[in-house]
Amino acid sequence: VSSTDMDRLQGLSIHISSFLKVGPERVIMSSFFTDLYSKYENFPVYQDDTWVVTYPKSGTTWAQELVWCLIKDPKSPEAKLELKKRFPFLEFESLRDPGLDTTGMRKDDPMCPGNTWQILHNLSAPRTIKSHLPKELLPKQIWQVKPKIVYVCRDPRDVCVSFYYQFIKLHGYKDTFNHFVQLFLDDIMLYSPFWVHILNFWKMRHEDHILFLRYEDMTKDLAAVVRQVAAFLGRNVNEEQVSWLTHHCTFEEMSKNPAVNYDTFRMAPTQEAKEIKFMRKGKVGDWRNHLTEEQQKAFKQWTLKYLQGSDFPYYQD
Ligand code: A3P
Repeated sequence: VSSTDMDRLQGLSIHISSFLKVGPERVIMSSFFTDLYSKYENFPVYQDDTWVVTYPKSGTTWAQELVWCLIKDPKSPEAKLELKKRFPFLEFESLRDPGLDTTGMRKDDPMCPGNTWQILHNLSAPRTIKSHLPKELLPKQIWQVKPKIVYVCRDPRDVCVSFYYQFIKLHGYKDTFNHFVQLFLDDIMLYSPFWVHILNFWKMRHEDHILFLRYEDMTKDLAAVVRQVAAFLGRNVNEEQVSWLTHHCTFEEMSKNPAVNYDTFRMAPTQEAKEIKFMRKGKVGDWRNHLTEEQQKAFKQWTLKYLQGSDFPYYQD
């Protein structure tokens, strides 16, 4: 293995180390996640949970803050807590307490044995939980209990660019952007294949407990999305509340809000990495500033390959 390969491996090894076969689809998971998969499988789900599920970099944090503010009180002191405490990330929380062999039950659950993943355990009902797991790897109970799930998708070209910056910032990725694009298009990326992730939720979009959103629609008319999410969650909001929430969830406001920024989460070793903001650009179409014509063609081919026979109408231009 050459030293460049070693660098490459170092950057990616945190996340990419094994292939897990799930049904006919290949889903790539890090060894951490693979080891802990049985925990996700049996993770207890409650009817009054609300889940935000996405492929990474699709507007997860944005949707989480909006959902949380609609479910809880956005003007309470709790709203100032870091989002990861109010709206924990399933996979990450399970990593933080790897020694515990129980399953994240709520502590008021009579079946709860008492030693669960801490943050999830301490969440009061109704819980709000984030996950990037693809449909097949989400806890099995989700499909029996059917809690509300808000799924957000985003143009894969923008996802790829955003993911690249996250890999430099958080995961010490040192290889080129071109190489990263290749990994993304080869579906050798954490939580890939991208299209399998999206299309599985797209197919379920008419189910009552699923709301399928697009990042681009949130950018175009956030107030409309606020109303849509409120209706989905069964929350009555007046126009004053819609306007407050819309303002609170703008890119500018969220960039200033330490509770929803992961900028403290700086594992980044280089100066360049330190300068990358989690709330980076928040734009639709930043890919135009990054992808070569050849890469754009490759994205199109890759997209059309996955969308053959599907009625998913976006991101094919
Ligand atoms: P960029 O890197 O393109 O700026 P996730 O939360 O899934 O990791 O997604 C992060 C992406 O969502 C980042 O994209 C971030 O800037 C963007 N984002 C977060 N909050 C946003 C908001 N209020 N408006 C627009 N984009 C937002």
